[in-house]
Amino acid sequence: MKILTTERLILKPHTMDNLNKMNEWENDPELIYFNDDDPFTYVPPDLTQRYLDRVINSNDSRIIRLAIHKACDDALIGFCSLAELDYYNLDCKLGITIGDKTEWGKGYGKEVVGELLRYCFEELHLNRVEAEVFSFNPRSQKLFSSMGFTLEGRRRESVFKKGEFADDLIFGILRREWESL
Ligand SMILES: CC(C)(COP(=O)(O)OP(=O)(O)OC[C@H]1O[C@@H](n2cnc3c(N)ncnc32)[C@H](O)[C@@H]1OP(=O)(O)O)[C@@H](O)C(=O)NCCC(=O)NCCS
Repeated sequence: MKILTTERLILKPHTMDNLNKMNEWENDPELIYFNDDDPFTYVPPDLTQRYLDRVINSNDSRIIRLAIHKACDDALIGFCSLAELDYYNLDCKLGITIGDKTEWGKGYGKEVVGELLRYCFEELHLNRVEAEVFSFNPRSQKLFSSMGFTLEGRRRESVFKKGEFADDLIFGILRREWESL
């Protein structure tokens, strides 16, 4: 897997150096609220270590997981993935988290999604990229809409959060739509 770069970021494979921050983010209730449909539970460091070990040593071609670092000082600020890579139907699911909340709203999310889309369409030759966003996550909805994704549908009341049901929104972008942006 090659390293991807943007104006301000480097997207590169995880290393064990990421353990502390990844564990901190796995234990951040706000991040879990937006990212996960399981209830929040404490994740001990050794579980994160085993997870990272699997990620670092994986040779599964159906998923690419990358750490997001700032180019200026190499600081780890988040992580992203291309999952369910399907080289027959030519599609995948994109996931992104800027775990360092002091870095939200600075355009890093758009930079990451822009580069992942370029990689998917230009280098992996995919036809479609999908993203799932909870209905209570306007920041992420704005991110995908502003990067050219279309809201294609919703799984109604498929997530139970804070005592209420919420929808899971499906966003998608096709190669031809990305090319005409
Ligand atoms: C969602 C997330 C990846 C966005 O990354 P980011 O770097 O904060 O976003 P950006 O600065 O690139 O901004 C993306 C868009 O969101 C908009 N935005 C920023 N804060 C917002 C807010 N509070 N409400 C609505 N829109 C907001 C920005 O204006 C921008 O759109 P625009 O350029 O068209 O104006 C990041 O906030 C995050 O990791 N959140 C927690 C986990 C999460 O939600 N992951 C995604 C799960 S699908």
